[in-house]
Amino acid sequence: MLVQKNVALQAFNTFHIVAKAGALARIADESDVQALLADPHWASEPKFVLGGGSNVVLTGDVKPLVLKVEIMGRKLVGETAKAFIVEAGAGENWHDFVVWTLAQGSPGLENMALIPGTVGAAPVQNIGAYGVELQDRFDSLDAIDLQTGETFSLNAAQCAFGYRDSIFKHSSLPNQDGGYRPIGLKNRALILRVRFALPKAWKPVLGYADLDRKMLETGCSQPSAQQMFDWVCEIRRAKLPDPAVIGNAGSFFKNPTVTPEQCADIIGRDPKVVYYPLADGSIKLAAGWLIDACGWRGKTVGQAGVYGKQALVLVNRGSVDGPDAATGGEVMTLAKAIQTSVYERFGILLEPEPIVV
Ligand code: EPU
Repeated sequence: MLVQKNVALQAFNTFHIVAKAGALARIADESDVQALLADPHWASEPKFVLGGGSNVVLTGDVKPLVLKVEIMGRKLVGETAKAFIVEAGAGENWHDFVVWTLAQGSPGLENMALIPGTVGAAPVQNIGAYGVELQDRFDSLDAIDLQTGETFSLNAAQCAFGYRDSIFKHSSLPNQDGGYRPIGLKNRALILRVRFALPKAWKPVLGYADLDRKMLETGCSQPSAQQMFDWVCEIRRAKLPDPAVIGNAGSFFKNPTVTPEQCADIIGRDPKVVYYPLADGSIKLAAGWLIDACGWRGKTVGQAGVYGKQALVLVNRGSVDGPDAATGGEVMTLAKAIQTSVYERFGILLEPEPIVV
C-alpha cells in the first residue's frame, strides 16, 4: 500500500468539486490499515474515510490523511430460516452489488437501485429509497478501529440506525475529565465488509406514489423483483441527475419532521404542502416541496445550482472534470440561502444530508 501525496479529488467526489488530498492511501484490505497504524508517521495523523464520495461536500483541500476504501468481494456467506446472508466488501459499487444480488436470485435491494456510492458508505447514512432503507435488509458489518487497529462487528442495534443516520455520523464527545465518551464512531471506524439479510419469501415493497403510478400505467399489479428494479431505475433517471454528467450528492437536505400542530399551521397557510404522517404520530414534510415553494428550483449561485426537476438536489453546473466546477463554498452559500428562506417562510431549519468536509 502506497501513500500518495497531493492527489486530485475531483474524480473521487460525485459533486466533482475541485479539491486535493494532502495525502491519500488506497485501502484494499484491513492489513493496509494495520500497516498505516504501524507506521509512526501515519499512526497518529487524523484520518478521513472516503467511499464513493457521493455524500460529501468538499469545502477545501482535505488535511487529514484520506483513506480511499477499495475493499472488494461479494459472496453468499450463510442463511437463516428466513433469509440469505450476503456479504460485500466496502469498496464495491452499491448499484453493481444490487444488480449482482438480483442475478444471484436474492432480491430485496431493488428499491435502492441506482443510489450512487459504495457498499461501505451505505450504512453510514442508512441509505433508502421508495419505502426501503438499508436497515431493513441489514445483517451486520465488520469495521476496523482507526486508533487501535482492532476489528469488530456490529449488528443493526449497535449501528444505531435512524433516518439517514447512524453511529458512523456521530463523533465521540469529550468528557469533563478530558476523556471521550464513545457515543459515535465518526472518523474512528473504517467499515470493511457489510452483510445483508435478503428475504427468502420476497414480496415487492409498493405503496410509494411513483411506483403506484408505474403499476397503473403498465397494468402490472404483481411486479417481479426485476420489474421493480426497472421501475426504480426509470423513476430515478427521470428526476435525478446522473452524477457522471451533472455533479451532485443526491438529496441535499433531510426531509424534516414536525409535530401535527406545526403541520396544521403550515397547511393553513399552504394547503398544497406535501407531508407523510409517521407511525410515531409526527409528520414528515417533503423538503423538496418546501424549497420549491420558496422559488429555488433552477436557481444558481456561481456554478452551484438547484436542479430543475427536483429542488432537493443541489448540482454542480460547471464541469465534472475541469477547473470551472462549482466550489464547495458556492454549494454551501446556496445551501445556507435556501435554509434561510425556508426558515423565514415555514419556521423550519433544514438539515443537510451530506457530510461537509
Ligand atoms: N417535490 C416538489 N418539488 C420538488 C421536489 C419534490 O414539489 O422540486 C415534491 C414531489 O412532488 C413529491 C415530494 O416532494 O410529492 C417528494 O419528492 P420525491 O418523491 O422526489 O422524494 P423526496 O422526499 O424528495 C426522498 C429521498 C430520496 C429518495 C426518494 C424516493 C430524502 C432526503 N430523500 O426524496 O433519497 O430517492 O425519497 O424514496 O429522504 C437521497 O437521500 O440522496 C435520495 C435521493
